[in-house]
Amino acid sequence: MRIILTTCLTIGAVLIALISCQNEVDIKTAQYAVNGQKVYITHCQNCHGEQGEGLGNLYPPLTDSKFLEANRQKLACMIKYGTSGELEVAGKKFNNSMPASNLSAVDIAYVLTYINTKINKGKEIYPLDEVEKQLKTCQ
Ligand code: HEC
Repeated sequence: MRIILTTCLTIGAVLIALISCQNEVDIKTAQYAVNGQKVYITHCQNCHGEQGEGLGNLYPPLTDSKFLEANRQKLACMIKYGTSGELEVAGKKFNNSMPASNLSAVDIAYVLTYINTKINKGKEIYPLDEVEKQLKTCQ
C-alpha cells in the first residue's frame, strides 16, 4: 500500500513539474511575441504589411512558413544586415533588396518569434542564443 502511495505521489510530482515547465516556455514565447510586435510595427510593417502580407512584386510576404523554416539559419543575418538577389517566396519570385535593420540580437529574436507565432501559426520561439549564434556566422 505504501509503495503504491509513494509511486502515485512521485508520478504526481513529475507531472506537476512537467506542466509548470511547459507553462514557463509558453509564457516566455508570449513575452517574446509581444515585444516582437512592437519591433515589427516600427521596423518591418511599412514594407511587409500589417499582417505580413507583403506588397505586390516588391515586398515578399512573411506568411510562407515553408520558406521561413527552410531558411531558419539565415533569417537573423538577413534581418540585421539586409539582403538582396532573387528569392522565391509563396510561389512568387522577388528580386529586390531589403536594407539593413541593425537591430540588436534580442530584438531580432523577438521579431522572429512574433512572425513565427502570430503572423504564422507556429508555436516555436526563436531563442536569443540561437540568434546570437547565427549572427556570428553572417558573411
Ligand atoms: C524597406 C522595405 C523593407 C523593410 C523595412 C523590411 N523588409 Fe524584409 N524584405 C524586403 C525585401 C524587398 C525583401 C526581399 C529581398 C530580395 O528580393 O532578395 C525582404 C525579405 C525578407 C525576408 C525573407 C523573405 C520572406 O518574405 O520571408 C524576411 C524574413 C524579412 N524580409 C523580414 C523582415 C523583418 C523581420 C523586417 C523588420 C525588422 C523587415 N523584413 C523589414 C523589404 C523590407
